[in-house]
Amino acid sequence: MSTRTGDERVGVWLFGARGSVATTTIAGAAALRHGGAPVGLVTELPDFAGHGLVPIDRLVFGGHDIIGTPLVKRLERLIAGGVLPHGLDSLVEADLTETEANLVTIEQHDVSQAEQIEAWAADIRAFAQRQQLSKVVAINVASTEAPYPPHPAHADVASLREALAGPDEVLPASSLAALAAFEAGASFIDFTPSTSIRPEAVRQYAVERGLPFGGQDAKTGETLVKSVLAPMFSARALKVHAWSGTNLLGGGDGATLADPRTAESKNTSKERGLTDMLGDVAGEVHIDYVDPMGDWKTAWDHIVFSGFLGVRMTMQFTWQGCDSALAAPLVLDLARLSAAALERGQVGAMPFLGFFFKDPIESTEHSLARQYDELVRWVREW
Ligand SMILES: NC(=O)c1ccc[n+]([C@@H]2O[C@H](COP(=O)([O-])OP(=O)(O)OC[C@H]3O[C@@H](n4cnc5c(N)ncnc54)[C@H](O)[C@@H]3O)[C@@H](O)[C@H]2O)c1
Repeated sequence: MSTRTGDERVGVWLFGARGSVATTTIAGAAALRHGGAPVGLVTELPDFAGHGLVPIDRLVFGGHDIIGTPLVKRLERLIAGGVLPHGLDSLVEADLTETEANLVTIEQHDVSQAEQIEAWAADIRAFAQRQQLSKVVAINVASTEAPYPPHPAHADVASLREALAGPDEVLPASSLAALAAFEAGASFIDFTPSTSIRPEAVRQYAVERGLPFGGQDAKTGETLVKSVLAPMFSARALKVHAWSGTNLLGGGDGATLADPRTAESKNTSKERGLTDMLGDVAGEVHIDYVDPMGDWKTAWDHIVFSGFLGVRMTMQFTWQGCDSALAAPLVLDLARLSAAALERGQVGAMPFLGFFFKDPIESTEHSLARQYDELVRWVREW
């Protein structure tokens, strides 16, 4: 890996490259290059200026997906759904066509998982070579998977290597993606709650290769608000008795989460923060798929708490967000910060990126304000 120079280009390899979040990210980065305002981009705040983060116009996108729908078609659908502004297609069409050449459609072959990893790693290496990239950061924005059962081979790298070379499936696609990224010398961020970097052996694999990883499950809506409100209740010594949330969501993500097994991954990661911040409180989080809502999400939360001498009170909030518009700038932030981590020789888990996630890796800190301070400290340290 070379160090950063003024004209270096950094590759961003997206697993799930034709999804709503990925398409919004790729089109959004192109729009910024054409003069769009960087609203929603944390790394454009003054705290991050002057620390050598790679400029957005130096990011080059590539990626894997299991579908082959052209990016331009995905963009048209996002514009029709109001996620992206009308007129953007003519502005960024050439950029999307250029990116199209860097996308690889995954095909199922009857090969071992070790061979699968090697094939995906070869795609990433070829991308880096073809585009003359100084480094590649990988980000998983593929559909959320159902929880994957623990396997004895998840315990250490030696057992994992042996098992991967055999005929059995020992890891889900998200973990193969992480290993492929590490094989290709890339960092890996999981934007989803999938299994990916959860197994100990996958983390050790990254450490062996001297690479950083982070995640998981970006907080862009209900959980983001929770991570501001829960510390408020704690700091004012107010007792929270119950916190119930209902989420209505359409789009590809909503359709995926309509499967109760996949929703389990998401709900577990959504609930973790609240328990860490407030201890055990009553109430549940639900996600309901409402197809006509498309990429728009409504979260309604109801909080029962008590104050001085046990007086009962209630707080409610409604969050109506456009999922991909909230997510895409964070993907760009994470790409820039991962590139900085690679350059700085960061190895292993990156808990200082917890600010972006519902289930921050190797961290129990969920307060947005404290997470922000930790992130800025890390950026300034170097
Ligand atoms: N939008 C947000 O605010 C937000 C927040 C947190 C997490 N996420 C997560 O980001 C992910 C993407 O969300 P989205 O709205 O773009 O979903 P989407 O359904 O529009 O896109 C997912 C893409 O992943 C592809 N895919 C599925 N399996 C794959 C595999 N094994 N390898 C490569 N590609 C694969 C699909 O074909 C699809 O193109 C989801 O897991 C979602 O839970 C989104």
